[in-house]
Amino acid sequence: MGEPQDPSVDALGGGSGIGRACCQVLAREGAQVVVADINLQAAKHTLTLLPGGQQHVAVAMDVRERRSVEDAMKLAQDQCGAPPSLLVNSAGVAITVPMLETDDDTWQKIIDVNLTGSFLVTQAFATSLLENGKDSKGAIVNIASILGKTGHTNKSAYTASKGGVISLTKTCAAELASRGIRVNCLLPAVIDTPMSATSSKEILENFKRLTPLGRPGCPEEVAEVVAFLLSERSSYMVGACVEVTGGYGM
Ligand SMILES: NC(=O)c1ccc[n+]([C@@H]2O[C@H](COP(=O)([O-])OP(=O)(O)OC[C@H]3O[C@@H](n4cnc5c(N)ncnc54)[C@H](O)[C@@H]3O)[C@@H](O)[C@H]2O)c1
Repeated sequence: MGEPQDPSVDALGGGSGIGRACCQVLAREGAQVVVADINLQAAKHTLTLLPGGQQHVAVAMDVRERRSVEDAMKLAQDQCGAPPSLLVNSAGVAITVPMLETDDDTWQKIIDVNLTGSFLVTQAFATSLLENGKDSKGAIVNIASILGKTGHTNKSAYTASKGGVISLTKTCAAELASRGIRVNCLLPAVIDTPMSATSSKEILENFKRLTPLGRPGCPEEVAEVVAFLLSERSSYMVGACVEVTGGYGM
């Protein structure tokens, strides 16, 4: 990136896939990283992959639960000596099931993690940063999905949750920009992670056929754009939805 990063970043869902790659790229750029995940073991494993290992921390956080989010945010603040000033909301779950067969529990679980989680974490992060002083500057990147824009068969809860993340991003961006916190979101298509590995061969082949680049993305290709959106190099970007899709769904 060629520019020093703000010293502390909180990465949600940092135990796997895109979140883990964000931790690696941001640590490489000089950030002190708080790796947060519901799976503490996975978050701790991410720590072992980061350059400058000692300064980074792993915390357990269930983004569905306000108490868990607030406790983890406080722990991160205590460990780092100040609230994190950069945030990546990457925790997420997906399911493929026809809309007519989607039961209440399935619907609620996807909305709770992907949408309510993004709200709870953003609120706790912004509150602690603003309480730290009115000169505190920060940036947030929400990992939504291109499917939040296009929709997709058999993914009603997932696409609705990601459409919600897109509009949540814009509203938070509008409310927080004047207070020094920029909020943007990123819309990936198929990225090679444990999440996409659960998709059927047929679904993956179909995505490939509709993707001009003709291949899935790597987590690092998403993380590089996240690092840009968190850096001062994107200082005039607010409420943007940046597509990282190999051309799918443009
Ligand atoms: N991989 C893709 O093709 C793709 C495409 C578009 C968008 N996305 C989005 O990118 C984000 C990251 O996905 P990924 O592919 O890296 O998935 P992944 O499954 O590899 O990682 C998701 C991480 O979220 C964590 N998590 C799940 N529930 C949680 C909870 N309640 N609290 C805290 N952490 C929780 C998991 O433990 C895991 O470490 C997700 O929001 C996903 O919807 C992924």
